[in-house]
Amino acid sequence: MMKKMKLTLAGLLVLVTGIIYGQTTITLYPDQAETKISKEIYGHFAEHLGRCIYGGIFVGEDSDIPNTRGFRDDVTGALIDMKIPLLRWPGGCFADTYNWKDGIGPRQERPSMVNVHWGGVTEDNSFGTHEFLDFCELINAEPYINVNVGSGTVREASEWIEYVTSSNISPMTDLRKKNGREEPWDVKYWGIGNENWGCGGEMTPEYYSDVYRNYASYARGARYKIACGASDSDYNWTDVLMKKMQGKRNIMQGLSLHYYTITHNWQKKGSATDFDENEWFTTLNKTLFMDELIQKHSTIMDKYDPEKRIGLIVDEWGNWFDVEPGTNPGFLYQQNTLRDALVAGINLNIFNNHADRVKMSNIAQTINVLQSVILTKDDEMVLTPTYYVFKMYSVHQEATMLPATVKTGEYKMDRRSVPTVNASASTKDGVVSVTICNLNPNESESVEITIPGSDFSEASGQIISAQKMNAYNDFGKEELVSMKEFAVAKPKNGKLTLELPSKSVVLVQLK
Ligand code: AHR
Repeated sequence: MMKKMKLTLAGLLVLVTGIIYGQTTITLYPDQAETKISKEIYGHFAEHLGRCIYGGIFVGEDSDIPNTRGFRDDVTGALIDMKIPLLRWPGGCFADTYNWKDGIGPRQERPSMVNVHWGGVTEDNSFGTHEFLDFCELINAEPYINVNVGSGTVREASEWIEYVTSSNISPMTDLRKKNGREEPWDVKYWGIGNENWGCGGEMTPEYYSDVYRNYASYARGARYKIACGASDSDYNWTDVLMKKMQGKRNIMQGLSLHYYTITHNWQKKGSATDFDENEWFTTLNKTLFMDELIQKHSTIMDKYDPEKRIGLIVDEWGNWFDVEPGTNPGFLYQQNTLRDALVAGINLNIFNNHADRVKMSNIAQTINVLQSVILTKDDEMVLTPTYYVFKMYSVHQEATMLPATVKTGEYKMDRRSVPTVNASASTKDGVVSVTICNLNPNESESVEITIPGSDFSEASGQIISAQKMNAYNDFGKEELVSMKEFAVAKPKNGKLTLELPSKSVVLVQLK
């Protein structure tokens, strides 16, 4: 006799979706692993904005703050430790007002200018091309220089590239040698303008495409040229740029995309530290939009570039909140909480999973501006929750991405919901690294990791989490958010099961 079975609603959902709520399964497919995760996906951005360069990176040789040739020793050490692979400079909006020749030669002779975009403060040009490239050498990071298209000229840009990269004899290389640098620098990445649809000249995509072609054709020596790309979901911008570069094989190697997570709106962006669960949810939900943006921009790029020769360069991303009360509104200084760690973890997982098209990304901005990895106050330094995410995820740099399916439940808020777990994986030197974010701030999640056909037997873990979702690290106080050991059980039969704490970013390594 057939037994009558009671089918509950939860049971029905399991049958239909294969998902047990509160339980996530992550399946990895090593046989499909073929795409390398460029280390440049872990890139950073430093603009002449607020206290990012001055005070954050550069304090000058005469400062009481311990430094090497003017660069803060504490910051230099922390960036090396984090394995920073690449740094974009000098902007941002600042780039399209910058005359590079004002920033070379003896410092006392360099002219000052007004930083019109960022607080109208005086920029004394004491940090220029030589300082930037010297700093990159110090921290072992690839430099990425953004030339001025909005208010500059083709000649100025081509001379800058020649000054930096040429080993030939010319007025520009003579000038470089006179300024103390005999050999050229190896600078691969050059951005041709920034946000030229906005602060970089208010151009249309059609007009910018023509201007870009003009600049790019004189950018000899620039091996990897990056065109200004779209803001958010401006898919028309991507379509026009890709169309206008067709048939020109060497003209564009990268196309950028800027997307910031704005919790509320541009007028009232919300506090970086004082928020409720609704804002937590909204921030993470808006961060997940990055995945849709990349998919849709990539689909347009695929139409013109099916071989994926052109990289999608997400050269500005991160949380943008209201400035810290009492600070200069033009300096964009904000604190950084566990919520920022989740935002960084989710974005970096998304970039890893799209590593076939996303070849670089640059969080905005390295120090003291927007979603920073480091904050400084005089001679003090704080490592933010975002810093620890970059440090944790550095295992993915130059590793092979492992395609994954993540079956997970939903974290719900009012009528909205997001997937509870977000993850990515890679493999290098026989070690599999899985980075996992639990978006739910209240509930832990059971996670099972399976790699069909593999028999890993050892596992280790690291975790970034805290008691409160708005925990942050502050000057002179105990560090509340950092990276800690995370105990995981021994894998059994090629499976690892773990309990992922609420509001956490976790790295699991298997071998
Ligand atoms: O990162 C701050 C600013 O945001 C950049 O200067 C600009 O490119 C963007 O609008």
